[in-house]
Amino acid sequence: MINSSFGKIPKFLPDTVLNLSKIVKEDKRSNVINATVGFIRDESGEIFIPKVVQQAWKQVKIEPATYLSPKNEYEWLGAEDFIQGALHLILEKTKPEDVASLGTVGGTGAVFSFLMFYARIVKKPEILLSSPTWPNHTGICEHLGYKIKTYQHAHDHQYNFEAHAQAIKKQSAGSVVLFHSARTHNPSGVNPTKHQWKELAKLMSDKVAFFDAAYLGLDTSVTEDSFAFNHFHEQGIPTAVAVSFSKNAGLYNQRTGILLLPQKDRKQALGLQRMLNALARIVYSSPPAQGERVMAQVLSNSQSRSQWQAELEEMNLTIQKRRAIVAEFMPRLGFTSKQFGLFSMLPLNLEQVVELRHKYGVYLTDSGRINLGGVTTKQIPILAESLSRVMNGK
Ligand SMILES: Cc1ncc(COP(=O)(O)O)c(C=O)c1O
Repeated sequence: MINSSFGKIPKFLPDTVLNLSKIVKEDKRSNVINATVGFIRDESGEIFIPKVVQQAWKQVKIEPATYLSPKNEYEWLGAEDFIQGALHLILEKTKPEDVASLGTVGGTGAVFSFLMFYARIVKKPEILLSSPTWPNHTGICEHLGYKIKTYQHAHDHQYNFEAHAQAIKKQSAGSVVLFHSARTHNPSGVNPTKHQWKELAKLMSDKVAFFDAAYLGLDTSVTEDSFAFNHFHEQGIPTAVAVSFSKNAGLYNQRTGILLLPQKDRKQALGLQRMLNALARIVYSSPPAQGERVMAQVLSNSQSRSQWQAELEEMNLTIQKRRAIVAEFMPRLGFTSKQFGLFSMLPLNLEQVVELRHKYGVYLTDSGRINLGGVTTKQIPILAESLSRVMNGK
């Protein structure tokens, strides 16, 4: 414990990921590779902001305005055209009026909002998380008093279906099971196939499925990546989806996210919506506006929607190409070419991760997670050379 003007407070270390970003910036060596936080870089090393999003920024007026508040009979909290656009694209088969939706403070806000909501309606909430998972999942669940269970998500660099299925079966009725959508699991890069999603759905009849869709469109396409949660909802499983527009639209600092809770009918959705609005009101009052306006513009017509999809697909191909090149340079890391999304876990201990930083200016997170979305093709030979030296103890 340490002292503050408010009394004794627990000792916190600096956030490792944010702290690393600072350290990387201060590293003035010429060949620094930053594969830590989940930024996506294009092949010229610039942060990936789809061109269609850049155009939308120009089309949308930036002006002081009033709060984003419900304007329609469904009482969605957020910019109506943003919510409508997201609903049509992401929950294609569900009627928009059957969905309770919140514009949130990024994907993190969407994750927090749902878990806060569920902790309000269930006395002793329980949740199943993958191990490893995005550290904020654990942090948020601990903060909200969830009883957390975990299972080993990957075995031998592949998705561990058996462990996942067994763990779901053991969870009590009413427990939340948190899934990462599509194959873009953070940090492992492996997740169920379509067939396996269908098998998992069969185990979920008395559970609550919560999908974190922070990388929507960064596996195959927004529609394809939305398969699992649409399927779960169609099977009658209570399903919630937290979507982030940080990576897929380059809106990191606009904090643009959405929480989608599809219901049986409009009456259910409206009741739920009013509770969500009341909870959002006490936490953040109303969502940040500018990112929602930009996304609304992108989602407003079929041409810009298709352009967005096409740009995401191109980026996905680029990342898959990077993965293939890593495997070519380092056959022992060949497993990375069979994984998806930004991340993979490399078989490195902390000492090796630290050596990579100090000797070679190659930055991964402490766990050995690499962000291949952030490494350009040109950087891969240097990355491979540094990794080889460290892994061979040279
Ligand atoms: C799995 C996962 N969920 C949620 C988020 C949060 O997204 P946002 O930056 O939009 O809050 C991230 C971001 O790193 C993530 O990796």
